[in-house]
Amino acid sequence: MKRLEGKAAIVTGAARGIGLEIAMAFAAEGASVAVADLDGADSTAAAEAITARTGAKTLGLGLDVSKEADCDRAIEDTAKAFGKVDILVNNAGITKDNLVLRMKAEDFDSVISVNLKGSFLMAKAASRLMLKARTGRIINISSVVGQSGQAGQANYSASKAGLIGLTKSLAREFAPRQVLVNAVAPGFIRTRMTEGLKDEAKAKISEMIPLGRMGEPGEVAKAALFLAGEDSAYITGQVLAVNGGLYM
Ligand SMILES: NC(=O)c1ccc[n+]([C@@H]2O[C@H](COP(=O)([O-])OP(=O)(O)OC[C@H]3O[C@@H](n4cnc5c(N)ncnc54)[C@H](O)[C@@H]3O)[C@@H](O)[C@H]2O)c1
Repeated sequence: MKRLEGKAAIVTGAARGIGLEIAMAFAAEGASVAVADLDGADSTAAAEAITARTGAKTLGLGLDVSKEADCDRAIEDTAKAFGKVDILVNNAGITKDNLVLRMKAEDFDSVISVNLKGSFLMAKAASRLMLKARTGRIINISSVVGQSGQAGQANYSASKAGLIGLTKSLAREFAPRQVLVNAVAPGFIRTRMTEGLKDEAKAKISEMIPLGRMGEPGEVAKAALFLAGEDSAYITGQVLAVNGGLYM
């Protein structure tokens, strides 16, 4: 039997990168999956590609996770299409890197707004259904820099550290209703977010990683799949690092 047979999931920021791999992995394991991203047409195209590859039921949704009404609507639409929402993955994220002295206050706000507040808004909307159903999984995609800090990423690392606090608080609040909340903290993964790095920087990063290379989006998806399925039934409030040993 497939690991997520009969489950309904929504993954934010799933039109590409890590989110797309997570949505694909969930669908391959039997879940119906809503692909939610900024551009509705991109989401629909990604959803159709997932269905073509896996045969799973999918849905493409346009949303901005920093807007409460969008989050509420996305959860409603997912529940309407699949009858329920069992799994939420808060993966949508942005960077606006700069040294603190040059970082504009609005660039601090917007990164917190998407990465941290967006995850809160989605969790709040999904929890209405999950708490009633007395079952559910919420998986927040944090980052190694939320654990270690990173020069040039004060806004981003604060948002990702905040996400760990959010994960633990939601885990405590929702545990009595069997809604499990965990985070995945990827290290340096090969996606559009990291492709802008110069080759020299990439080589330096790989040297710092005990496993000697950057990670692949599929390797993060496998961790999310574990946290979404029955194999992690006694795990909540945890941060699963997928970083090649970069931060221990
Ligand atoms: N790539 C890495 O090395 C790495 C490392 C650690 C953590 N992460 C985290 O993993 C997640 C996915 O990253 P990725 O590398 O695949 O990035 P990516 O830029 O390839 O994908 C991010 C997706 O989020 C979407 N998005 C952005 N703002 C949004 C909003 N307001 N509402 C809805 N969707 C929005 C984008 O359109 C995009 O499709 C992010 O949260 C990122 O911070 C990535």
